[in-house]
Amino acid sequence: MKKIALMTSGGDSPGMNACIRSIVRTSISKGIKVCGINRGYEGLINDDIFELTSAHVANIIQRGGTILKSARSKKFMTTEGQIEAVNILNRNNIEGLIVIGGEGSLTGANILYKQYNIKVMGIPGSIDNDIYGTDFAIGVDSALNRIINAIDIINDTASSHDRTFIIEVMGRNCGYLALMSSIAGGAEYAFIPEKNINIDEIVEMVKQRYKEGKSRSIIIVAEGAGSASSIAKIFREKGYIDTRITVLGHLQRGGSPTYFDRMLATAMGIKAVEGLIEGEYGKMIALKGSKLYYIPIEEAISKKKELELDMLDINKMLNV
Ligand code: F6P
Repeated sequence: MKKIALMTSGGDSPGMNACIRSIVRTSISKGIKVCGINRGYEGLINDDIFELTSAHVANIIQRGGTILKSARSKKFMTTEGQIEAVNILNRNNIEGLIVIGGEGSLTGANILYKQYNIKVMGIPGSIDNDIYGTDFAIGVDSALNRIINAIDIINDTASSHDRTFIIEVMGRNCGYLALMSSIAGGAEYAFIPEKNINIDEIVEMVKQRYKEGKSRSIIIVAEGAGSASSIAKIFREKGYIDTRITVLGHLQRGGSPTYFDRMLATAMGIKAVEGLIEGEYGKMIALKGSKLYYIPIEEAISKKKELELDMLDINKMLNV
């Protein structure tokens, strides 16, 4: 393989830059030319492609976001858009394509591989941790650390004023961030999209806690399980509880990646280039335990990553 390209696509996640750096420098050291595609599939269709040098990726390992920018492309969802993308790859003599992103981005990569024989390699990058087959995607650890820092800060005010705080975190379809940050942040409960729960039960639990002398409560809600404001309203009406809300929003997505994400991104980047050289096409890099594997992208996008719901019981148990 003489020339490859890479893109970041979908929501940015901390560690994407570390991964780009790793791919670029691994490729160069193996004598492979490497091109960056700006703005994901949208940039590919627009032929927004340039050769990356080692200097392009200097001083980015610590930076959040993605220097290649990201976008969600409607055009690529059409057959015309896909044919255009394939023509541009061929015109630029690009033999292999690495896509860093979440489920939608990996689905795009799989289309290029299955329908157009493009030699693709996927790298899971998304804060949601909803990609099947890998224990972690790039960015999850950084987002979780950001969330628990926020919980710690809010805890101080919650304790000082004997208040309940409802903290809304990201996760449209997946409660991973909410549930894990609830446990690691010492919160009372996490509302998640995967589990329907009677809010009254949780209001009663919090009321009981106050009676027992607890001075504050923190409740986490995944955006896909409802809004912090609607839950706070119920707490105020039914529990007469002094309640405040904090919506963390995009504070969770940017910012400097943690040690774990830098290392994961670096290792996945190296493995992706090696995979393309070795003929591992249509695969995604997956972390299982402490090792990286290649799994078919098809498998990663067609199976659902199940959230360990017994973590809800663990969260409860740790709040007796
Ligand atoms: O998929 C990552 C994610 O941050 C989700 O948790 C969230 O629902 C979504 O992206 C937000 O997307 P956008 O930044 O396009 O509003």
